[in-house]
This record gives sequence, structure tokens and C-alpha cells, in this order.
Amino acid sequence: MPADQTTLNHTARVLVTVTPQLPADAALRRYFYHHDRLAPQLRRAISRCVFNYYRWLRWVDTKQSLQKQLDHALHLNECFVRDAKSVKPEALAARAVPEWLTAEIDWPEAKVGAVVPNGPSAAKDNRPYPSEAAYLRQLQREPALWLRARPGKAHHLAQTLGHGQTSQHAPDAVRYSGEKDLFRTAQFHEGAFEIQDLASQLVALAAAPFPGQTWWDACAGEGGKTLHLADLMQNKGLIWATDRNERRLQTLKRRAARAKIFNFRTATWDGSERLPTKAKFDGILIDAPCSGVGTWQRNPHARWTTTLDDVRELAATQTALLHHAAGSLKSGGRLLYAVCTLTRSETTAIADAFTAAHPEFTPAPLQALGSSLPALTLWPHELNANGMFIAAWQKA
Ligand SMILES: C[S@@+](CC[C@H](N)C(=O)[O-])C[C@H]1O[C@@H](n2cnc3c(N)ncnc32)[C@H](O)[C@@H]1O
Repeated sequence: MPADQTTLNHTARVLVTVTPQLPADAALRRYFYHHDRLAPQLRRAISRCVFNYYRWLRWVDTKQSLQKQLDHALHLNECFVRDAKSVKPEALAARAVPEWLTAEIDWPEAKVGAVVPNGPSAAKDNRPYPSEAAYLRQLQREPALWLRARPGKAHHLAQTLGHGQTSQHAPDAVRYSGEKDLFRTAQFHEGAFEIQDLASQLVALAAAPFPGQTWWDACAGEGGKTLHLADLMQNKGLIWATDRNERRLQTLKRRAARAKIFNFRTATWDGSERLPTKAKFDGILIDAPCSGVGTWQRNPHARWTTTLDDVRELAATQTALLHHAAGSLKSGGRLLYAVCTLTRSETTAIADAFTAAHPEFTPAPLQALGSSLPALTLWPHELNANGMFIAAWQKA
């Protein structure tokens, strides 16, 4: 549905505040904070317009007025929604993502028999691989909204909320396509669900913790995966939830209270060799900070602010986090590494280097995800969710 004038006016007022220091998602949060009477439906429409603008940014003429740019971007979006094939894969490869991305990703087709000294991209002409084209097309779509119901309650949640669809990939996942303000629903206040992307739900499932075990969620942030681990452990055993950001851990505690999760404790940890505890764990999850390329469908402005330097810097942090945390695993324990990105430097390169440097760790199949492989890339176009990389090891 085309945006009305009120939506367009608000959108333009948000866009003028966006800077490299105030990215689009933060600008939206700030705008809504200062305009707290806007109806939820209007907020959603404004967010959609802002994000669609950044999806089509490289097609618009930024010398024109913001109003004209916005009209053009939204028109392109409407054409694309009507017929996704109307935009050629070559145009998507050139304009939907920054130039550096393609060579940083190992497209599945490039691996088949490719012996290429300078990386897989050196072998191909300018046409995107079929998987690359499918990925780029997915990036231009509006993202799906995923919820995680409490264990065994996905069907019930889908029915009571309405407009919910369960998933074959994760037992408690529900895709919500309705228009309700979910934060105001009774189910949310009762702790009946968390808003959590499907790819993120697959991380705790891949960890496959048992009730009564002791786990360390080393980059717990606001606790999305801590809460899921706790649910899988039936609230039994103990999870150490650490992060370098104390404010995020406070949010984790509020979320845990709403979900009636009690089997955790929090501590700050900055990723250095000074560990938060001398305890040894049955399992460690490192949901590491990353460039977030896997979230570019949801947050398209990040395509234009993330750089290859960020990728390199984050890869060094990821290596250090793995290296420092791994020593806290018990013999026979399980180590999980996850990042919501798709760049080689932050995914397979990190996992391969860790395996090579730590012979006491054996890559372990991701059986809980139905895979015999020890590392998986989850693609947005295959899952209709964020992109994610997950790798697992077992300590001898
Ligand atoms: C991908 S987010 C974690 C998301 C969280 N696990 C969840 O499911 O909601 C990465 C987290 O790593 C934290 N972080 C960044 N650098 C860190 C470091 N050097 N040591 C520890 N945590 C770090 C960030 O504060 C952020 O919360």
C-alpha cells in the first residue's frame, strides 16, 4: 500500500536526523521517544518507509530533494513487491550492497571444485551466482517478524495472537504477520513469548544444553539466547550470562523476570584473559559481536555504514573471545560460536583458525539442527530470517 502524506512527512523528519553516529534504527527510536503519541500503526509505517529508503538508496539521486528521493525509493519498492524479477541480479549486485561484500562471501556454488588463488570471487565474471541473486533479492524484501513461544506453546501462541505461523525449522518459532503492537499484548506481559529471529533461535537449539548443566553465555547482551538456553534447560542448572555492557545485562534481568527464568547469574566480562569466574562449564556459547551483515535485510542502513575495516577489527575480537573463553570448558564440554554475519573473515576463517590452533577441540556435528556438519551458514533467502553462522566443538 502506498504511504500517505503524514507517513512521508514523518519519514522525511526522521531521515534528516540520520548520521553515521545516529544510524537509522537509533534515529527511529529517538524520534518515537520524542513523539510518543504516534499510533503503533503509524510508527510501523514510518519505520517501513525509512528502511525502504535505505534499501533503494543506491538507485536514487541524492542531489534531489529528500521528498523526491523518498518518492523514487518507495516507487521502486512497490515495483519490486509486484515483481521481484523486474530488478536484474546484476543491478542488485551493484547497488543493493557495498562493493566489498561479494568477495567477502563464500557463495555455495563457488566452492564446487573451485581452485582459485585469490578467493572464489576472482573466478567469476560479473554475473551473480544463483544463490547470490536469491540472497540479494531477499535483502530487498521486508523482513519476517519471528517470535519464540515458551516450550511446546507455539501452536497455542499462533492461535491466540492470530496471524501466526509455526516453523518446520524450530519447534517454538512463530512467524507473526499481523498488525498488533506485540509489546501491548497480554501474552507479552505474561512472558508467553520473546521477539527473537528464527536464525537466533537455531543458535540455542544447536547448543542443545541439558537440564542441570552449567553453561556460560559469554556475550549474553540483552539475553535473547540466555533465556532460550534456560528454557531448554527447563530452568534447571546454571547459566553464567556475561557481557561487557552492564546496561544490556540489566535488560536481560528484566526479561528473565517477565519470563520467570531464574537459573542464571550475570557478571560483566570485557573479553580479556581476566575471566569472570574460575568455574568450568559443560557448555560455552560465544554469540560474538560482529559486522551484522546477516541483519542487513532488517536494518538496511547498516549496509552503508559497515566497512571492511570493521570486519577485520571484529574478526580480531572474535578470535580473542574464543581463545580466552575456551579454557573454561570441562573435558567433554561443548563450545559454540555464533555470529549474525556472513563474511568469510568472521565465520569459516575464525572457526578454521580456532580448530588449527586448539588440537584439544574437535569440530562437533550440529546434530540438533539435523546436520552432520560442525559448522553451518544460515542464509536469509533459505530461512526467511537473519543470516547466521554457527560452529561447534567438543573438548577432548
Ligand atoms: C551479538 S550480541 C549478543 C546478543 C545476545 N547473545 C542475544 O542473544 O540477545 C554481542 C554482544 O557482545 C558484547 N560484546 C562486545 N564486545 C565484547 C567483548 N570484548 N567482550 C564481551 N562482550 C562483548 C556486546 O555488548 C553485545 O551484547
